Amino acid sequence: MYNNIITQIEDNVLVITINRESKLNALTIETLQEIKQAVNAGNEDASVYGMIVTGSGSKAFAAGADISEFANFSVDEATKMSANGHDVMNAIEEGSKVVVAAVNGFALGGGCELAMACHLRVASKNAKFGQPEVNLGVPPGYGGTQRLIQLVGKGKGLELLLTADSIDAEMAERFGLVNKVVDLDVLLEEAKALVVKIASKSPSAVNKIFKCVNDFYKPNVNGMQREIYEFGEAFGTADFQEGTEAFMNKRKADFRNL
Ligand code: COA
Repeated sequence: MYNNIITQIEDNVLVITINRESKLNALTIETLQEIKQAVNAGNEDASVYGMIVTGSGSKAFAAGADISEFANFSVDEATKMSANGHDVMNAIEEGSKVVVAAVNGFALGGGCELAMACHLRVASKNAKFGQPEVNLGVPPGYGGTQRLIQLVGKGKGLELLLTADSIDAEMAERFGLVNKVVDLDVLLEEAKALVVKIASKSPSAVNKIFKCVNDFYKPNVNGMQREIYEFGEAFGTADFQEGTEAFMNKRKADFRNL
């Protein structure tokens, strides 16, 4: 079904693995479209509670957009490539279910941008993050100039963007780029545990949190107003009934009828 990714549902978690190990999982345009297709399918599939994006092998999550593919692009082709890439990243960020990046090695350029578009990031100790596009004569094109600043702040973000330096997982955690650092052999397990933990919470509240938080970063949108709206709307949901009833009855809420 896919040429560049492998998808597998394990314990209600959809694991999307970029499967171009010999090219360090470099992201061709088709690969990104397949990731978007898989994430959209995961958001639609009731048996999927959340998703993980990872890379095949133990060396790379994704070492960037595929340079050999875009090396001869015209201005128009590059503009389209960037717009399509943004579309993919936004589909992940604005989806209804949690997407965790399990960063198993190099996350450079488009790979770092893909990890940053995911809601949370768990990294193995060998992971390396960076935006080396400045070495190629371009700025990042898949949201890196925006999401890196959102995650680590302008000072550190500009340093990484301007120097093309990469940082290891431990430093990425210190900067807030990564949520947790673990050994490579337990990376998927840890990422899955995070998805499962979030899956046990109210799905409709999780979805509302994504909407409110995403609005914080949108120009001309009032995130506070969005929060007031989503909070109010939540009172009309079955999840709210279940959550409050469970609390009153001193039991654990069961949002999925498990
Ligand atoms: N695009 C296309 N191919 C890539 C790639 C990318 N972003 N990153 C790695 N590859 C390919 C290499 O060309 C090589 O292919 P080959 O065996 O057919 O020659 C293969 O993946 C292995 O990479 P290699 O460079 O030999 O591995 P390394 O361990 O020596 O170096 C990196 C690893 C990550 C430091 C190096 O591959 C690199 O700098 N990649 C580009 C990073 C980048 O600039 N990303 C931003 C792109 S916008």
